[in-house]
Amino acid sequence: MEPQGFTLWFTGLSGSGKTTASRLVEKELRARGYKVEMLDGDVVRENLSKGLGFSKEDRDTNIRRIGFVCELLTRNDVVAITAAISPYRAVRDENRARIGRFVEVYAKCPIAVLAERDVKGLYKKALAGEIKNFTGIDDPYEEPLNPEVVIESDKETPEQSVAKIVAKLEAMGYLARSNGHQAKS
Ligand code: ADX
Repeated sequence: MEPQGFTLWFTGLSGSGKTTASRLVEKELRARGYKVEMLDGDVVRENLSKGLGFSKEDRDTNIRRIGFVCELLTRNDVVAITAAISPYRAVRDENRARIGRFVEVYAKCPIAVLAERDVKGLYKKALAGEIKNFTGIDDPYEEPLNPEVVIESDKETPEQSVAKIVAKLEAMGYLARSNGHQAKS
C-alpha cells in the first residue's frame, strides 16, 4: 500500500497564525478521511516538553522531541501536523532529513504586525524587557530558505492559507485531489 503519512511542519514567530491555520488543515484532512495528529507548540510544552525553557539548547531539544514523534506517526500512515516556532533552521532541516515525507509551511508575518496584534500580551513584555530571549525581539528566528508553502496572515484569510497548503499537498501527491465533496465524515 502507498504510504499515507507525512509531516506538515509549521514554523514562524509567536502569533503568526501557525495554530489557526494548522487547526483548519487538521479539520479538512480529517473530513477527507485521513488519520491526523496535531502537535501544537503550547500543548507540547505542557506535556512532552514540560520543564523546558527557551534557551537555544532547550528549544532544540523541544523541536527534536516533536520531530521524533512526527517521525513515528508519519511512518505509521498518520499525518503529523506541528505548530511550534522552531526558530533554528538546522534542527528543522535535521527533522526534514530524518522524516523524509516532510512539508514545511512558513507562517510569515512582519514583527511590527505581531507586536501590534499581541494576542497573548507577550510582545509588549518582551519589548519592555520583562521577558528575555523572546523570539523575534531579542532572540533569533531563522527563516526557512525553501519552504514548500508560505502563508501570510496579514495578507490572506486563514481559509486562503489553508487552500494554499491543501493545493500544495495535492500537487506533491501527499493528498488525493478532492472533488469538492468530503470523502468521509
Ligand atoms: S520553540 O522555540 O521551542 O519552538 P514553542 O513554539 O514551543 O517555541 O513555544 C512558543 C510559545 O511559548 C510562544 O507562542 C509563547 O506563547 C511562549 N513563550 C514564552 N516565552 C517565550 C520566548 N522567550 N520566546 C518565544 N516564545 C515564548
